[in-house]
Parts: sequence; C-alpha cells; structure tokens
Amino acid sequence: MIELQLKPTIYSYDTCREFVEDLQVGADDLIITNQYIFDPNFKDLGLTCHVLFQEKYGMGEPSDEMAEAIYKDMPKDVKRIIGIGGGTVMDLCKLFVLKQVSPVLDLFDGKIPVEKEKELILIPTTCGTGSEVTNVSVMALVSRNTKKGLADNALYADKAVLISQLLKTLPFKVFATSSIDALVHAVESALSPDSSASFRVFSYNAIELILKGYLQIRDHGPEARIPLMKDFLLASNWAGIAFSVPGCAAVHAMSYPLGAKYHVPHGESNYAMFTGVMNCYMSIKSDGEIAKLNRFIADILGCEPENVYAELEKLLNVILPKKALHEYGVKEEELPEFAKSVIENQQRLMKHSFVPLDYDKVYGIYKKLY
Ligand SMILES: [Fe+2]
Repeated sequence: MIELQLKPTIYSYDTCREFVEDLQVGADDLIITNQYIFDPNFKDLGLTCHVLFQEKYGMGEPSDEMAEAIYKDMPKDVKRIIGIGGGTVMDLCKLFVLKQVSPVLDLFDGKIPVEKEKELILIPTTCGTGSEVTNVSVMALVSRNTKKGLADNALYADKAVLISQLLKTLPFKVFATSSIDALVHAVESALSPDSSASFRVFSYNAIELILKGYLQIRDHGPEARIPLMKDFLLASNWAGIAFSVPGCAAVHAMSYPLGAKYHVPHGESNYAMFTGVMNCYMSIKSDGEIAKLNRFIADILGCEPENVYAELEKLLNVILPKKALHEYGVKEEELPEFAKSVIENQQRLMKHSFVPLDYDKVYGIYKKLY
C-alpha cells in the first residue's frame, strides 16, 4: 500500500513574471494555453517561447480529435511543454510530452507504450481539478461516443506551478464549480479505503481551507473570495494530492452520466450527487472514517454531527444553488440507464467508495435526487 506519493515539485508565485524569470521560460519551451489567459498575463513579458492556443482546435472538453490536431501543429523540438489552463489544457499537455502520441486512440487502448520524452510543467488557472498533481488524462473518444481515462506515472508533471495572479480574474461561477469539485476530491479521498493517514493530512486540510473560505463568502459576499484565492489554489492542489493515489469515488462516478448527457459543468454535477451519496453511505455504515469526517466538518460549521449534511448543503447553496436532477432536464425513465452505466463503466471510481454500492443503491440515490 502506498502511504504517500508526491511526484511533481510544487512551486508557488504571486505573479506570472516571477514564474517566467525563476524557471527561465525561453526558446526551448512551448506554452499551450488559451488566448484569454495568455493576453492579460503573459503578452507583455517579452517571451521568446512558442505558444499555441487550445481553443483554435475545438471548444469544450478535451477529446482525442483535439489532441491529434494540436499535436500535428506542435513544434516537436521543444524541451519543455508548459500547460496553463483548466483541466482541458492540462489533460492534453500530459499526452504531448510522450515519445509517441498518435494515434491517440491506440494510446488509450494500451497499444502504444506510455513513455515520457519531454519535461512537463502544469499551471492551473481554476481552483478545482488538481490535475497538476495527478497522473490521469481524461479524453472524450469521439468516434466511440465515450470518455476514457489514461492513468500512468509517465503522465505526472515534473513541476506544478501555482500562480495566484492567474486566479484573480476567475468568474464567480467558475470559482464556485471548481472549488466544489476540489471539496468533493478532498471528501471522497478522505473516505477512500485506499487512502492513508498521510494522504488524509491533505484531504482534511483542503476541506478546512475551502469551508472556512466559503464561510467568509457567506458572511461578506462574493468579493470576499478575491483575497482568499491563494488559499483556494492551495486547497485545490492539496485535494489533488489527496486523491492522486486513493482515488475519487461514487460522487464522481454518478456525476458522469449527468455531465455527459446534459452538459452540466463537472463541479456542479458533482454537487448534485454529493449529499445524496453521503446520506446513502451513512445509512449503510455510520462509524469509522465517515464519523470522523462528519465531526470534523461539524466543528468547522458550528453544528452537531447529526445535522452536518443539511448544514453543509445550506452553506454550499450560497456558493452554488443545488438543483434536483429533473431541473437539468433528466427524465425519470432515464435513471435506470444512468445507474446501469455507472455500474458498468465507472468501476475505476466506484471501487474507491467508502462502502460498496450496487445497482439498487445507485438507482436509489438517483431516485432521491430526482
Ligand atoms: Fe473532479
């Protein structure tokens, strides 16, 4: 059992200029990012490196087709790939450092060896995915109409860089969905049977930082988040470390059908499942790690552990109002199909659940959340 694994060296800077100077970004580097991130933060820094904008190759979630198109245009003689963005950019960049990238479909089918050739630097611009410290790249495989994760230690970044300047302009909705995603990473990893005392140090500290930040926002309004962005960036990074090996579980697994079919942002679809899954866990097993977690959260919220999920939901609703599944357009007759796809396709995640959940339990959770 792995007690703790931490692959990238983690750097933090207040400004982009400090990062560029300290890590000597230059002609041997390729930055992959979005123009709306690059222009206000890097354009005036006199960079000599190559730059590619991901959005020129398609919008939305990363796909194998997007990866092929960017790879075709990419200068191949660079030494370092620097991915600056949300999950999409980071998951793409994890592939581009490999010796053989194309055909991407073969890579995901395990037909090509996953061998690293270039150095990878990942810089998150949201406070949620934690992708800068995990070894997974998730792509939509367009021809197969499905999403698949490739997990290999060769996909770890060499350096993960946290730059507070990049988070200052994050719109509230993106802040809300990404930070709730980080909270769910922290909670799911704390409850994972594959976690350890060391990984849980990161889970619990992330939970505390995020919830204390939310309390500030509840009491002082949305703008109160701005001075706290460095905390949220750190918390998201810690939550990423926390689930990097222990894994995420039923909340993530059950959110995929909703996210995929109704295009609900990842963090929002997680929140739609969150307390439903927690209540189900409690109905099966209410002692052990979940009792410890509930006490920990209740102390932060100033409530009794018996009411912890109701109080938590009250606080989270200030950040992002929770919706019932039917409000997203889900039809009741789709629920068996959702539950079936979770059991059939998401065992990679379901195996990390606090207690095993079968089809009936998963269907029961969907029904309650409907
Ligand atoms: Fe997530």
